[in-house]
Amino acid sequence: MILLSPTFTLRQIRHRLPINATQLLQNVRPTHSAPKHTTGLPDPIEWLTLPRSLSPRKALMLLSLPVSPKHWPSHLEMASPLLATASAHFKSKGIAVNAIYDGIGDQTSFAAEEEYPVKIYWPDGYSRSYNNFNMDSISSDDILKDLEYTVKSLDVTEYEKPKEILVCTHGSRDCRCSDRGGPLVEALREAIERRGVSDRIQVKEIAHVGGHKYAANVILLPSLDMLSNLTLEHAPSIISHLLSPKPNTKIWAHWRGRYGLTEQEQAQIWDRVNPEKGQNTEKGKVHEERDKVELRFKTFEGELKVVNAKLGSNLLEVGKENDLPSLEGVCGGNLECATCHLYLAPSPFPAPTSEPSEEEDDMLGYALGYRDGESRLGCQIKVTKELSEWCKRGGVIGLPRF
Ligand code: FES
Repeated sequence: MILLSPTFTLRQIRHRLPINATQLLQNVRPTHSAPKHTTGLPDPIEWLTLPRSLSPRKALMLLSLPVSPKHWPSHLEMASPLLATASAHFKSKGIAVNAIYDGIGDQTSFAAEEEYPVKIYWPDGYSRSYNNFNMDSISSDDILKDLEYTVKSLDVTEYEKPKEILVCTHGSRDCRCSDRGGPLVEALREAIERRGVSDRIQVKEIAHVGGHKYAANVILLPSLDMLSNLTLEHAPSIISHLLSPKPNTKIWAHWRGRYGLTEQEQAQIWDRVNPEKGQNTEKGKVHEERDKVELRFKTFEGELKVVNAKLGSNLLEVGKENDLPSLEGVCGGNLECATCHLYLAPSPFPAPTSEPSEEEDDMLGYALGYRDGESRLGCQIKVTKELSEWCKRGGVIGLPRF
């Protein structure tokens, strides 16, 4: 029997339990429909810098659920065994899996025998549909064969394909998604109606897509582009972007990445579409140099690495730029992986950083080699003059073994 002290945090509990008990704890997380956060939406002028790269996946599988988002628990897999099983199975094959609601169906809970329409999308516009997807379909030979499809191009080749806009409105997961996503859904539908293009573009709601802090988040089909930092004012630009054979340059500023591509392929696309590209002047470069500060890292083996880091960037980015070991950042800074884990030693005095957010604290529960009071996620720690000063006075940023 496991005895839990009431003073333990969830993180502390996870690090004291064997792995099967830890999984059990994850499975009994409470579901709720109340927003996780009730205050603190950033002002639109303080939008966070977007990572411009999603976790590399070959394709995106979407299950069309008959239950509307207002009845979704915070972790949808707990209510839908079919989604949970499909996610585990197909993610291991490099396919992202998620659920959408297209306004069809008014169930308030999930049936015991689940069967939904499912579609898999590849980033060149190719797709496959399955009308009655159920538990048996998961291991069907047909689907396995379909997954062998090889993408032909980095871009959607048939630009006239029907378009869909999937807006994350998963409010029980994070209220920012419904507070910003809900009004965006309405604004998009109005804009589509006004322009008379409802036969060409549909708006649907999607479950948690990662990166709540960038809400509102949308995925565009068939291109599989993700856009973030959106408000309802962006609705007309998104529609124009989808309808134009020459996509709207302004909307690229909101581009967060494209499903189905490797990091390198996404970087190639960003290099091509970055609206600020070419605006770097010599003056700008001098300014950039001046905006760098010195930081000290120590590898797990004890080697000291002194690097110049750009003010305002985060420690994961610094690690990547300087080839520091152990900082992987698999989720691209979306607080979904803990592979950017590092240590901020409490000496010579606590590092001058903000306290971890609820999401960071939660994700730290998965960090290998976690140390209470020292472990942080590098993607969440900004480079500041104060952090550099701390390093100058003896502070060291520790890198874990892996
Ligand atoms: S990069 Fe995944 S949590 Fe930091």
